[in-house]
Amino acid sequence: MEHRIFNFNAGPAALPLPVLEQIKLEMLDFRGSGMSILEVSHRSRWFEDVLDEAIVRIKRLLGLDDRYEVLFLQGGASMQFCMVPMNLCVPGKPAGYVDTGSWAVKAVKEAQIQGKAVRVLASSKDRNYSYIPEKIEIDSNLAYLHITSNNTIEGTQWQRFPDAGGVPLVSDMSSDIFSRVFDPGPFGLIYAGAQKNAGPAGVTLVIARQDMLERAPEQLPTMLKYTTFSGKKSMYNTPPCFAVYVVCLVTRWLEETVGGISAMEAVNTGKADLLYGYLDSQDFYSGTSAPDSRSRMNVTFRLSDQDLEQRFVQEATAAGLGGLKGHRSVGGCRASIYNAVPIEAVESLVAFMKEFARKNG
Ligand SMILES: Cc1ncc(COP(=O)(O)O)c(C=O)c1O
Repeated sequence: MEHRIFNFNAGPAALPLPVLEQIKLEMLDFRGSGMSILEVSHRSRWFEDVLDEAIVRIKRLLGLDDRYEVLFLQGGASMQFCMVPMNLCVPGKPAGYVDTGSWAVKAVKEAQIQGKAVRVLASSKDRNYSYIPEKIEIDSNLAYLHITSNNTIEGTQWQRFPDAGGVPLVSDMSSDIFSRVFDPGPFGLIYAGAQKNAGPAGVTLVIARQDMLERAPEQLPTMLKYTTFSGKKSMYNTPPCFAVYVVCLVTRWLEETVGGISAMEAVNTGKADLLYGYLDSQDFYSGTSAPDSRSRMNVTFRLSDQDLEQRFVQEATAAGLGGLKGHRSVGGCRASIYNAVPIEAVESLVAFMKEFARKNG
């Protein structure tokens, strides 16, 4: 039996163990092909079956109707910061953004670089992005309203999505897709780098409503235009086959082992309640996000000084609890408790935190 740790990395992050085992099982002879999935043609029946299964499962998991297309693109979520305004901005209509952290700032910057009219409608920068802004003035003339549903670095998450009236919502769901139930109806486009909750690095999920795809101006570079990939099952060129295959296995695990998104949400709520419950019960560690904005995916906290934080991370690593260092831009500690992180990992973390506090308090 291989040595496995409890993995709290922010991304690439933990994958479900049954998914890794399935990859191992099928690695040398993929479903009777006599080849690895890494070796089959993307135009082969073997890969097309994988792609079809992934699309069907994603649509079913998220409750997407026929107006939505699922695309598998490359370039990471960061590429979407650029593709969204390039494809979805409409002359005479500004694009609205809510500034809730580092990733949102990057999304705004990419729209501005292209000279698009951008309106930042609200920001939580005044308090180090520790909360999700409540009041947002939404003008019905906006081309779209962009939000970051979960702020991976700062540990905040939208608890309710804003009511944008008829304005389509666009969301970066990189770090909380498939973690909770939501109504996709108000969303014109959703994107997510797969490497946190959906699979490995190398593929980005884009879920787009047909009317949004039709907005793209004619003259866009081919590879930066959604319509190059829509209607062709993302097969204009070679897709990231292996990453799509792993996403397929993750969605299969979500449906068949976990029992769907609402069952997943219940598990995620249990994990987050356990960790926040402990944080709230003592004062050796302090959570960094406002209680009404807390992320159920990335739990950020601080200790009294940086030396102690460093020691905490080191000792946790030695105890088999990996990836607890906060993002380099904000410091502190962060436990990413994505879908594939089991409750036992959180129980083990809380036990370790109690013991560390007892020894160092
Ligand atoms: C919310 C969010 N958006 C965007 C990104 C950037 O994703 P990528 O590295 O796939 O470009 C990340 C994390 O890496 C993220 O957490």
